Amino acid sequence: MQERDDQIFLDTLKIINNIFGSAPPLVGPDTQCIVHLLQEIYGRCVKPKQEHLKGGQEETVYGELMPEFLERLFDETHLESDSLFVDLGSGAGNTVAQAALTRGCKAFGIELRSAVAAIADTMVKAAIVRSQIWGIPVGKIDVVCGDMTRNAEVLEWIQAADLVLANNLKFPPSLNENVKNLIQFMKPGAILVSLESFGLCGVNRSGAVHSGADDVGLLFEVSTHQYFSGDVSWSNAGGEYYIHRKIA
Ligand SMILES: C[S@@+](CC[C@H](N)C(=O)[O-])C[C@H]1O[C@@H](n2cnc3c(N)ncnc32)[C@H](O)[C@@H]1O
Repeated sequence: MQERDDQIFLDTLKIINNIFGSAPPLVGPDTQCIVHLLQEIYGRCVKPKQEHLKGGQEETVYGELMPEFLERLFDETHLESDSLFVDLGSGAGNTVAQAALTRGCKAFGIELRSAVAAIADTMVKAAIVRSQIWGIPVGKIDVVCGDMTRNAEVLEWIQAADLVLANNLKFPPSLNENVKNLIQFMKPGAILVSLESFGLCGVNRSGAVHSGADDVGLLFEVSTHQYFSGDVSWSNAGGEYYIHRKIA
């Protein structure tokens, strides 16, 4: 009797092992789930401290690109797991956390205001913990507090970056000039996305050089794109953004 029970047990175990053995491998959450996860983290880490985001000088006025818009940008610019994403003025860390989690790429950011950079730090740490819990492959994230125009590390990032973001609608002309000096060090093929045109009158898609092109402008192919209502946090209206592709 005892021997028969053992055999039934072994046969049953074999059947169970076969079922698990033929099951498809477990896959992590899809992009939509990850964006949802990021919104939950944002609600916990950023929303309660929203007061700290307000009240900057003109150049540090806060506003964000919304997750769906960011995903479209990442698709349009082919941000992949082996890419490096850099956000010049990374605010609460929303863009770097999203790039690292939905694309699995390296994502670096620099933020001038210490109170805002501290929020980014909590956002990024929470994102890393969630990625571990959910088994989401995540790229290295680095968010530093500092001035993008005076930070040696930023120049190294820019030289290696595949996608640079400058949400520069409120940057003063002097800061945009400094950014323009930085981006000349981007590698060929790398892309800069900005919300305000850098006035880089370079080579257009048909290969014609616009008149008035300056030295930096000649290094980029520039195209204008539309964003829509709901794409940015500071307005319900749509607007333009600019994709600059380094050609030399
Ligand atoms: C409009 S917010 C963009 C937030 C985020 N990048 C996004 O697009 O969702 C611009 C950020 O740039 C920061 N900023 C302005 N001047 C800066 C500088 N010189 N160095 C680093 N960050 C700066 C501001 O403090 C602000 O948080």
